[in-house]
Amino acid sequence: VRVMVVGATGTVGTAVCELLEPGHEVVRASRRGDARVDLDDRDSIAALADGLRGVDAIVCCAASAPLTPLLDGDFIPSLQAKLLGQVELARTAIAHLPDGGSVTLTSGRIPEATPGSAGGALVNAGLEAFVRAGAVELHRGLRLNAVCPGWVRESLVALGMDPSTGTPAREIAAHYVEAVESTLNGQVLG
Ligand SMILES: NC(=O)c1ccc[n+]([C@@H]2O[C@H](COP(=O)([O-])OP(=O)(O)OC[C@H]3O[C@@H](n4cnc5c(N)ncnc54)[C@H](OP(=O)(O)O)[C@@H]3O)[C@@H](O)[C@H]2O)c1
Repeated sequence: VRVMVVGATGTVGTAVCELLEPGHEVVRASRRGDARVDLDDRDSIAALADGLRGVDAIVCCAASAPLTPLLDGDFIPSLQAKLLGQVELARTAIAHLPDGGSVTLTSGRIPEATPGSAGGALVNAGLEAFVRAGAVELHRGLRLNAVCPGWVRESLVALGMDPSTGTPAREIAAHYVEAVESTLNGQVLG
């Protein structure tokens, strides 16, 4: 299977590419990747349609929704790239992938009662609702799923935080591989 990984240079994306590579052909995409796409830019997502020729599956683990104070912060950037960007990417891919193709998006799990998490929680809940509801409309054997990572161990290390509560990126990456290789549809994994 030829799989495009959007966010291929990131912590999660790197592990996903490594795990996919033995069995699949991987096309790396991001704002600065071999294939370019900016989830913040609708035109750039629409332009990706051409780059999807020959691609069977798309995995997106790009963009993020950083902690943002409820009143002082701006939720729009996270909503724009991580929520609406992934939704638009999925809709574009579904229109262009061949029969049996799959789309796997990324939501996220934030520990309860984390100050600044309202915007991220909104983004993640929106993505998971979109996947569950959107999957029922798919035809031609197409599939739509999401992976919901909690803290990634490597990210905690990079941030100088206690890594013991994190999950190794490779373990999280296995959920993306399962989404690509299985027949799952409308599921949130992880
Ligand atoms: N790491 C964690 O602990 C954790 C926990 C829960 C959820 N998640 C979620 O998992 C996903 C991946 O996280 P990560 O830690 O791997 O992120 P990361 O290391 O910051 O990597 C982000 C990747 O996305 C690309 N990217 C960023 N903005 C983009 C945009 N607007 N359009 C296209 N590509 C873009 C980056 O490459 P370019 O700069 O070249 O574009 C990079 O390849 C995110 O959705 C994040 O919210 C992560």
